[in-house]
Formats: sequence, structure tokens, C-alpha cells
Amino acid sequence: MNASLSQQQETRAWESDFLRAVEQSLSDANSLESLYTRLAPYAYRKSRGQFFTPPVLAEFMTDWVLEASPASLLDPAAGLGVFLRCALRRPHSLTRVVGYEIDPILAKAAERVVMRMGGTNCTIICDDFLLAPPPEAFDAILANPPYIRHHDLSDPPGLFQAFDRRFGVRLSRLTNAYGLFLLQCYDRLSPNGRAALLTPSEFLNADFGVPLKRFLLERNALSALVLFDPAHRVFEGILTTACITLLEKNREADAPIRLIRVADERRLKLVGGSWASAADGLSCRMLRSKELDPQAKWGALFSPSPRKIARRLVRLGDIAQTKRGIATGANSFFTLCDAEARRFPPLFLKPCLTKAPHAPLFDFTCEDFDALRQRGKKVYLLDCDGVPPPALMDYFKAGERAGLHHRYLTSRRTPWYAMEKREIAPILVTTFGRRALRFVLNRARVWHLTAFHGIYPRFDDERLHRALMAYLISRRCAALLDREKRVYGDGLLKVEPRDILALPVLDVTSLPDEQVTRLADLFDALCARRRADADWHHAAVVQELERWVALACGDEVCL
Ligand SMILES: C[S@@+](CC[C@H](N)C(=O)[O-])C[C@H]1O[C@@H](n2cnc3c(N)ncnc32)[C@H](O)[C@@H]1O
Repeated sequence: MNASLSQQQETRAWESDFLRAVEQSLSDANSLESLYTRLAPYAYRKSRGQFFTPPVLAEFMTDWVLEASPASLLDPAAGLGVFLRCALRRPHSLTRVVGYEIDPILAKAAERVVMRMGGTNCTIICDDFLLAPPPEAFDAILANPPYIRHHDLSDPPGLFQAFDRRFGVRLSRLTNAYGLFLLQCYDRLSPNGRAALLTPSEFLNADFGVPLKRFLLERNALSALVLFDPAHRVFEGILTTACITLLEKNREADAPIRLIRVADERRLKLVGGSWASAADGLSCRMLRSKELDPQAKWGALFSPSPRKIARRLVRLGDIAQTKRGIATGANSFFTLCDAEARRFPPLFLKPCLTKAPHAPLFDFTCEDFDALRQRGKKVYLLDCDGVPPPALMDYFKAGERAGLHHRYLTSRRTPWYAMEKREIAPILVTTFGRRALRFVLNRARVWHLTAFHGIYPRFDDERLHRALMAYLISRRCAALLDREKRVYGDGLLKVEPRDILALPVLDVTSLPDEQVTRLADLFDALCARRRADADWHHAAVVQELERWVALACGDEVCL
């Protein structure tokens, strides 16, 4: 027996097994896809792009198109009809339902199943949707078009030329079949119609996606793009990341396009229909057509966590928390110099940075703290929230005689002298600045008052903190801070803790170990140089730090 004959016989064997199973009326129509996937050889399915839609996504997409009460529905690549079955199970106003399917076995099976569900107004057409689309338009289209590479399409040159002519585009000859389905689906949509297409997400970033994105933007057709996290496999057996494109014909000119990122497809079910507010596990960004550039890689516009906002940069808020310093309500009373502090038990004294000029360098060390203490600066914060010992009670009584307990902040605390609780912040940033903000590594691990905001990285690794500091004191960071002037204002700058969360910072957690160590060491070297030399700006270490920051940010630099 020759190879092709045995192959055909093998093919016939699984085909008839499958059709028999369909005849035997499967109680759960959803298991049709699993049965087919088990019986049909992988190579056969791959060559035809037969990867089925998970029911939860089919439900979400169906609900979205049915929301507009369509009278007609088309699935141009019906497979076993998951979308048609889903629509028929839901309350609907459909009077015409059409499925296209090129594979006769699937077309036959889909027809039997939908007919059994009472879908008498359903037609399954066994034909090629790309070459012979239906003449009429549809109010709703649901599709998981086949993923078929350009060279596996039938007559690619002729097909691409025909599409270029019909749609007034110049398609890349590398366009995947699903790109052609996207154009043809939009074309077959009635005025005010809705289409939901599940495809791989590669067209958002690939060159062949540019004409497709331009086509959709020019027609203001995009209602939303739902991107699944790469870690989340939507299609069984294939590695590609998935995307749902929601299209509408005749959208209002200024209607927003939602860019939604989903970690878990089950979340979509929660928000189907009304997803103005982002539910847990979803992030949503709204843009207008004119704000989207078809040439750009759109994948970066969604908001993963942490969100890459430029090459290796993320928002500070993605890798750290920020909190304002401790507000005492009466600094001169609650902060003490060494001589004053000696009257009270150390238990009630917290070493503290009380003023920004007390930490003028890139770091604040235990030696710096000692130097301030010896110079009689206020470096202790009085903190007592229990029963004060006699000496302290007398001090508080004196405060009451001065009316301190009636002040705005103190009158809201119980007892009035109890301090608010704050963790020690590894990195500090000045609250006010003449020209720019100053970042200080808190090596002495002291508390801080409101002259600083605390930056609390989500990683408890002192080497990473130093690497982050190398970035925060770099010219690149200063330039970005400058660009954020709208946030920080002009003249004397005052910053709120949440303002700094938007600052683009280097995601040090994603750097190779060697780069982290190098940045951390360069930061130390620069700290030492600055202490030793008033003319530190011109030191070679400054240039080297800038070069390593540039390298870490993904620039091409010579080291
Ligand atoms: C990714 S599957 C989707 C099937 C089903 N709609 C679902 O969502 O599970 C794509 C289907 O399109 C069919 N197909 C491939 N090329 C086609 C074409 N040119 N016209 C119509 N159907 C086609 C394949 O046989 C396959 O069943």
C-alpha cells in the first residue's frame, strides 16, 4: 500500500468515527471540539487552522454582539459552530444565522448539531469565505479565523492582489489568513453592526499588521482590543498569545477605543457588556482613533504589570510604593537634639531626618546621623503611644499648657502626642525643590518627617535599591522628571507622594545580575566621590554611571 493511500484510509477512519459520534447526539455539544481534537491528526488541524475557541470566550464574544439585538449573524470560519451554538442557546432576536466552513467534515458536523438545536434559520455553507464571501451583510459577526501562513494559502499572489484592489490597501505578502478575514469581516458588516474576532495578537506589533491597523483606524472601526497575558494560553496546543478585536460600523467620531489587558479569560465573563470599570485582573485604557499610530507597536499600549512605558522603563508605582513622611503637628516640640533627648528613655526616641538640608548628598549614613547629632541638630523624634514615664509625662503636660494638643493634627490623635506609624523608607525623595527633586538612599535606616516622601520598593534587596538609586540620580532620570513638569509644576516644586508614582524608572528587577551589581557599585563609588570632592561633577565615575544606566535602559552604548 503506498503512503498516500494509507494516509487517506487513516483519514477516513477518524472522519467516520467523528461523524458517527456526532450522529449519536452528544449530550454536551461543547465536548464536540474535544472529541474532534482527539481524533483528527494534529498536522491536519494545523494545516487548516483548526484551533477552537474556549467556551468562556465564545460566550463573552457572543454576549457582546447580541447586546445590539442583531437580526442576522455570520461565523465565517465556523468549525463545529461554537459561536452559533452559543448564540442559539441565548435569548436572541436572530432570524438568519450563517456559518461558513471550508472543511466538509466540520461543515457537516456543525450543520447537524445546529439543526438538532432547533436552528432552522441556520445555514452552514461549505465554501471558502475568502474567495466566495456571502453577498449580503450581517448585523453580527463572530469569528475565530484560521491561523494560516501566507505560503499555505491557496494562490497567495492572486489572493493578495484581489484584497488590495477591493479594500484599497497594500497588504504585506506575509499577512496571515486571519488578517484577510479581518478585512472581509468588516466589509460584511451592516451599518451599526458588531463583529468580534479572536486572533493571535501578533498583528498588533508585526509589520504585516500596519495596513490592517490603518484600515481599521481610518474607518474608526475599533471598539476595543482585548489582549491576553502571554503567560495565559488561550489556544490549546499552540503558543501564540491571543487577542479579541471588537469592531463596530458607524461609531461616533470621538468614541473611545478600549485597550484591555486580561490575565485570566474567566474575568471577561464578569464584565461582559459593561466594562467601563476595570474589574480585578483586567486593566483598561481608553484612547481615540487619532491617538493611535498604525506604525507603532500596539502591544506596549496595554498595561501589563509592571507596565513598560519606554524600553526598559516602568512606572515607579509598578515597583514601589510612596508615602509622605511623618507629620508631627508640632515639629519643634516633638523633635529633639541629643541634649534634649537624654532626658527620656531611648525607647521613646526614634532617629529621624527632620529637614531636607540634613541629607544633602546621594546617601545618608550612620556617620552622617552622628555628625548631625554632635552638631546639636534635631535628630530624634519623640514617639510614645503608651503610658509615658514620669519625665515624659511632665514634658507632655508642658506641651498641653502651651496648647499644643488643640492643634489641627494633634487634636485628631489619641493620645494627642502619639505619632502616626510609618515604616522606615529605604529611599527618600525631597518634598520641595527649587529646580528638581533629590533622591537619597537611607543607609542609616532612620525615620523621616514630611520634608521627604518615602519610597518603598517592592523588593527587599539592598543591592537592587542601590541600582535603582544609580538610575534615580542619573541625568536620564533628571530629564524625565523635567519632562513631567506638568506634574511637578514650576518654580518651587512641591510633590505629592502619588505624583512620583508616574515617574518612569528603570525596572531593576528585570536586569541581568551583572548590570545590577555594576550599577550598585557605581552608585557607591559616586557617593564616595561626592563626599570627597566638591568638584565631583566632572569625575569619570559620573560618565560611567550614565553609560551603564543607558545600557541598562536598552540603549546601544560603548563601554
Ligand atoms: C480557528 S478555527 C475556528 C472554529 C470555530 N469557529 C471556533 O471558534 O472554535 C477556524 C476554522 O476555519 C476553517 N477555515 C479555514 N480556512 C477557511 C476559509 N478560507 N473559509 C472558511 N473556513 C475556513 C477551518 O477549517 C477551521 O474550522
